[in-house]
Amino acid sequence: MPRFFQIYFMFNLTKIDKNKKEKMLTKNNKNQALVDKLIQLKKQRNAVILAHNYQLGEVQDMADFVGDSLDLSRKAAKTRAEVIVFCGVQFMAETASILSPDKIVLLPDINAGCPMANMVTVEKLKEKKQKYGYPYVVCYVNSAAEVKAESDICCTSANAVKIVRGLDQRKKVLFIPDQYLGHYVSSQVGKEMILWPGYCPTHLRILPQDIARLRKDHPQAKVIVHAECRPEVISLADEVQSTGVMCRYAKTTENNEIIVGTELGIIHRLRKENPEKKFFSVSEQAICPNMKLITLEKVVWSLKEMRYQIKVPARIANRAGKAVDRMLELT
Ligand code: 13P
Ligand code: SF4
Repeated sequence: MPRFFQIYFMFNLTKIDKNKKEKMLTKNNKNQALVDKLIQLKKQRNAVILAHNYQLGEVQDMADFVGDSLDLSRKAAKTRAEVIVFCGVQFMAETASILSPDKIVLLPDINAGCPMANMVTVEKLKEKKQKYGYPYVVCYVNSAAEVKAESDICCTSANAVKIVRGLDQRKKVLFIPDQYLGHYVSSQVGKEMILWPGYCPTHLRILPQDIARLRKDHPQAKVIVHAECRPEVISLADEVQSTGVMCRYAKTTENNEIIVGTELGIIHRLRKENPEKKFFSVSEQAICPNMKLITLEKVVWSLKEMRYQIKVPARIANRAGKAVDRMLELT
């Protein structure tokens, strides 16, 4: 390449690097300013920040506690803070409000819903209950408060097997709304259940052929997948777990390579807590767009404006609370 062009390219590359660096510095400064503001607001409002394992890294890093649905509901039930900022999706914030009715529960983005939770409505549930002669309803926590109020007991992916195993096995059970979690539980307990045809669109993107490919590339690795995955994926896994159990497993296993079949956000926590281990995500497509709606900026805004407040009306909270309490008592 002629000397003139070499100098021209070198100059422009330096310029690009400089622009990139400046942008990064601006972002870091901006984040630091947000972090400072957040610390100040948290103190002022006596608030606690709870974040799900799928949240953006910047949100997880500022949370007081990061966990799965079960861990987070336990924290919400126990906290002494007056305000709970729930960095997750609507049904999680609702569960926090059911368990801590005297607290203010904030969801930083009101659009952070869960499509699987929306696949069951009270009307449809009532119809199905009637159709099957009023079976015992086991309701996955990924559901609206009204639906929980119409159910007998709740469960999460961390305790679903235990909950169903603990029931009187003569009972006819309707499992809502996740057919895949229901299918997995049924196979573990050896009990047939009526399954609601719901599913998680994010976990459906995790495919058996991706696991097969990764296993070939990393023959020493263990495969852990979420219980919301399809049965063909579950049958290829070494462990089927909730996100919280995945994090505990990663810490304690002697294995240094782990193939992870769940939403991508969890990789941030896994790498942070286990810098010496290698994690391979089964699918780069496994992103829950709702979980990603919450940003550090929105968390600060939420505490500043005290929005969006999630309050389950007492009439529903009392009934839904019974289903959630039954779950917590059994686990
Ligand atoms: P966990 O309770 O395992 O964190 O799962 C929640 C969820 O929404 C999975 O998609
Ligand atoms: Fe709902 Fe799936 Fe997102 Fe979990 S990952 S919140 S089940 S859509």
